Amino acid sequence: MAFPDGFLWGGATAANQCEGGYNEDGKGLSVPDIMTGGTVSEPRHITDGILPQYHYPSHEAVDMYHHYLDDIKLFGEMGFKCYRMSINWSRIFPNGDEAEPNQAGIEFYRRVFQACQEQGIEPMVTLSHYELPYGLSKNYGGWKNLKLIDFYLNYARTVMTEYKGLVRYWLTFNEINCLLMGGFGGVMGGGMVPEATDTPMTFGNCDWDDPQARFDALHHQFLASAKCVTLGHQIDPQNKIGCMIAGNACYPHTCNPADVLAAQKQQREMNFYCGDVQVRGAYPAWARSLWRREGVHVEVSPEDAATLAAGKVDFYSFSYYMSATATADPVLLEQGNIFGGAGNEYLKKSDWGWAIDPVGLLYYLEEVYDRYQVPLMIVENGLGAVDEVEADGSIHDGYRIDYLREHIKQMEIAIEDGVDLMGYTMWGCIDLVSASTGEMKKRYGFIYVDKDNDGNGTLARSRKDSFFWYKKVIESNGADLA
Ligand code: BG6
Repeated sequence: MAFPDGFLWGGATAANQCEGGYNEDGKGLSVPDIMTGGTVSEPRHITDGILPQYHYPSHEAVDMYHHYLDDIKLFGEMGFKCYRMSINWSRIFPNGDEAEPNQAGIEFYRRVFQACQEQGIEPMVTLSHYELPYGLSKNYGGWKNLKLIDFYLNYARTVMTEYKGLVRYWLTFNEINCLLMGGFGGVMGGGMVPEATDTPMTFGNCDWDDPQARFDALHHQFLASAKCVTLGHQIDPQNKIGCMIAGNACYPHTCNPADVLAAQKQQREMNFYCGDVQVRGAYPAWARSLWRREGVHVEVSPEDAATLAAGKVDFYSFSYYMSATATADPVLLEQGNIFGGAGNEYLKKSDWGWAIDPVGLLYYLEEVYDRYQVPLMIVENGLGAVDEVEADGSIHDGYRIDYLREHIKQMEIAIEDGVDLMGYTMWGCIDLVSASTGEMKKRYGFIYVDKDNDGNGTLARSRKDSFFWYKKVIESNGADLA
């Protein structure tokens, strides 16, 4: 039996993608609340405030704000041991800079955690999942401003104190390494919103991207994360606090040494730049070369270095959806997926162009465990696909089961190889709004939600085939994958 007793099987969501209730009970606006819907070919827009001509999918999302009791019961029915979710910061501090929290927000999440407890589900809470209060973005310029560290710590102190005993697992920042990517990364990760009133959100280099601001923002988040780890341990020594990295398994496109070096560079920068700071407590030696190449300056004072060294995380968590290939050939560069690269002729892609590569998960687990030797947790993995509802209401998502099964098999191999893997929370366990495209059509869930891209639908929930399959997987602790 590969999977250890107590393995944290479950699912994951983020508040801004599932909760809705965007202005209820004192909640303030958060950055996703000013992001419009999009599609795979039409980018989302980010607007300055809410413009009447647009649909903003986070406003209602799948309305978990009002359905959480039933939804958590469904998670319980599948046997979840763990539910990874985020607290929407602007529900607790509506503008982000208040001294006192919004009591209605505090009570909402207390009820959510109590519902988890009733189902025997351990919550794992992301403190910041791409959902900065818009006030901190608009009035302070987002994470490039040093003041954000204190606002974040006030928020973290508040929720860690309120939920002491109800929540033991915390993640400081979702996919913190997305700040290394231009455009989208700066907005989602750093809350650094372009000045124009209406801007299409693209990935990579774009005219409103500011690399210096991104690297500053990331440094501030590292400090905030380290201080939060120290604080969280003081509040409750039982707390386990992790980092969360967008896992980028990267292969050389060919055995040309230039491609091999390009792959090494991408692995280091995307996975180990943040991992080293958060797990080892210090920037890697080559960070200076990266800063030089990016034309940025990062000042690490002796006090900063001490803060980082004191606030090492307890475990390393990551998302894994796809692998990428790196090339030194500029002509091939744009053929990859969201992580760029040259494409991979050995792999199929999802309908959204993400390369499907279960073996890449094994490769990534082994690489990361070799380097850090701390417990690992896969907190996101899954397939975004179009689901069809049959006349009798059933949803036959065999393609999703295949995707998950093949990834779980690779986890098993990693565990047999000695990797200390704590758990697996499949992404989007209930259908929710896609972060990159703002769609409902890109579904991940075991639970279907009746809602379309334009916001129409009854919001009714139904169980897909994968729901029953995952229930068996958990019941058998990963032994029955059939
Ligand atoms: C991760 C994010 O990048 O990938 C999630 O942490 C996101 O918020 C998930 O939803 C899947 O991406 P998408 O764009 O398909 O929703």
